[in-house]
Amino acid sequence: MKYLFKNALTVTMDQEMKVLKNIDVLVENDRIKALGSIKPEECENAVEIDCTKKILMPGLINGHTHVPMTLLRNYADDMNLQTWLFDYIFPAEDKLTGEDVYWGTMLGIMEMLATGTTCFIDMYFYMDHMAKAVEDSGIRAQLSRGMTSNEKGPDFSQNKSLNECIDFYLKWNGAADGRIMGAFAPHAIYTCSPEYIRAIRDAAEKYGAPIHIHLDETRVEHQDSLKNFGKTPAKHLYDLGVFDLKTIAAHCVWIDDEDIELLKEKDVTIAHNPGSNLKLASGIAPIPKVMDSGINIILGTDGASSNNNLDMFEEINLASLIHKGANLDPLLINAGEALKMATVNGGKALGREDLGVIKEGFKADLILIDVDKVHSKPLHNPVSALAYSIKGSDVCLAMVDGRILYENGEFKTIDKEKVLYNIEKICDRIF
Ligand code: NI
Repeated sequence: MKYLFKNALTVTMDQEMKVLKNIDVLVENDRIKALGSIKPEECENAVEIDCTKKILMPGLINGHTHVPMTLLRNYADDMNLQTWLFDYIFPAEDKLTGEDVYWGTMLGIMEMLATGTTCFIDMYFYMDHMAKAVEDSGIRAQLSRGMTSNEKGPDFSQNKSLNECIDFYLKWNGAADGRIMGAFAPHAIYTCSPEYIRAIRDAAEKYGAPIHIHLDETRVEHQDSLKNFGKTPAKHLYDLGVFDLKTIAAHCVWIDDEDIELLKEKDVTIAHNPGSNLKLASGIAPIPKVMDSGINIILGTDGASSNNNLDMFEEINLASLIHKGANLDPLLINAGEALKMATVNGGKALGREDLGVIKEGFKADLILIDVDKVHSKPLHNPVSALAYSIKGSDVCLAMVDGRILYENGEFKTIDKEKVLYNIEKICDRIF
């Protein structure tokens, strides 16, 4: 299949942040074949997409989320993380079935596609059902089974979650034409004993899997770590050898200067979740300092229960605003830097050098944004517009792997009515 995006105002998200006016981009099968001056014979049989008054850019990569938590959206709000998680979220999650997780994932995927996200990095449970939703919908994702246990071991060979995690990885990593990537996810240091984290880490190393973990999200986590282990959460994971594997650490709100050095030394990616951190009053991560260190930073919404949406344009906006305000410095985290966190940096975090940029040979994960809107005119600087004035709902097309999954309000691979019907049924049962 071939598509020709005609006359696109293209924000490439390459190193130089090139913005190309009125150019054509040719997609063939799952890849970007050419951009700029394309020979007419190359475009033969291509479906033309008129991009007048639209911005073409790489699809956004949601760097940390729990998509099935859409089921718990607007259910438990305005409380601290410990109460929210242990008194409301975990008990509600205990009632979920695999079916529920499938439909919750589908709801989240619809929201993500309609707001420009083409890939997400997730940790949850009933992962076979999540993977099925990713496979059915056509979106791209890194998926991992979140694991919690405070057992001391030493033998975790019979541990149910860890065995599920390994089975899931072996079954799904690289599946759905490579759209599904697997990872191992010890939930956090306050829900996993050191021995359990070590066992997960060793298993991940054995199978060559990367790690996805929550790190230093709240002051309570930070202080408990100092009390229980005599070191910061980051140093704790460093000493357990977790960071010797390719790691995405979500939040890192309370990390100190020494932690930043450790994370940099081990090339850990930090997933910044400004919306969730503000809503749960966890604090504001020291992202400008982290950026100065050269650490790779990606952007995530976290679950829809602590945000309460999966709109990455909101997150880009927040990431580019809160550090300016918190540090009284308007030069911090400019629009381009915030956009990189939501695109090309996500590709790097996944070890994928073919995601997050519009460039020949890269994956055709693309979005079109309608800028013929009152709130985005005049369009002096498209990069500024993307960070400061455009809304997720301005997205009018989402393509993953060269396949259009969403266009002008219509989902091509998902039966919207069926998803909404099932969500209502699930909520009637659980709440
Ligand atoms: Ni999270």
